[in-house]
Amino acid sequence: MQENWIPVNDALAERVRRLIVYPSGDYESAKERSRLISEMGVSHIRLSGDAQVCNVNVLGKGKTSVVLECLWKETVAAIKLMRLDSPVRDFDFEAKVMMEANGSLLGPKLFASSEEVLIMEKVEGKPLGVWLDHGESLHRRDIMCEILRQARTLDRIGIRHNELSNPSKHIIVKKDRPVLIDFGSSTYGSRGHNVASLFQFLCIRRRQCATSEGATNKKMFEALAEYRKNPGEPEFRSILNLAEQSWKEACTT
Ligand SMILES: Nc1ncnc2c1ncn2[C@@H]1O[C@H](COP(=O)(O)OP(=O)(O)O)[C@@H](O)[C@H]1O
Ligand SMILES: [Mg+2]
Repeated sequence: MQENWIPVNDALAERVRRLIVYPSGDYESAKERSRLISEMGVSHIRLSGDAQVCNVNVLGKGKTSVVLECLWKETVAAIKLMRLDSPVRDFDFEAKVMMEANGSLLGPKLFASSEEVLIMEKVEGKPLGVWLDHGESLHRRDIMCEILRQARTLDRIGIRHNELSNPSKHIIVKKDRPVLIDFGSSTYGSRGHNVASLFQFLCIRRRQCATSEGATNKKMFEALAEYRKNPGEPEFRSILNLAEQSWKEACTT
């Protein structure tokens, strides 16, 4: 066993308790939750990651949860633990949407779920916002296009993610592949919304090269309007072509 893994049954020391049942760290609630996650197959947790909660490293913290690295059935995984002050009551809907996304090979693979806990594949990489500032330019265009293709898949299966107009924290870029995370705010019926949000963010707001003859702002807004009106395959092709053109320069420098 590698170092720093904390057995779930010992996860009651105060600094760990606060993460298990954030923000109160209430002893009885933490004990109950530890029992629950142990029954779900989690044996250990590890305090690692680039985010911090109460001066402790974690994979992340969001509106509804604290996310920790864990060992689930001997597999390194991520565990999303509902905050006690979460605005949503349970993770049932999020789990359902994740399973549908997984069916189209999108999102982290969901391993197990309960009302207050999601156990999923741990995604190693950088949040999109950080990656855009520091990422390798070599694969930049490929990753950008893959993000748009994944958004297209979500549009086709009718899941509207709803947090992709500012996706800096909702896409993690792995070495070879971007992964969309956090389906908790999703709704059904997309009508081109995912592609439209990401295209605007990536090509217009955070454009990789300021000027590109082929991909003017005018052309991009026109293509976007067409896709919104009729989110079909040819309309998506036009978007992808413009995206490729607008990032060409960035990839060759
Ligand atoms: N599967 C995962 N692997 C690695 N880090 C993750 C994973 N899921 C979430 N995180 C991290 O935790 C943060 C919060 O997760 P998120 O699903 O957005 O929670 P919330 O629903 O509370 O907003 C993310 O921004 C990300 O940094
Ligand atoms: Mg979030």
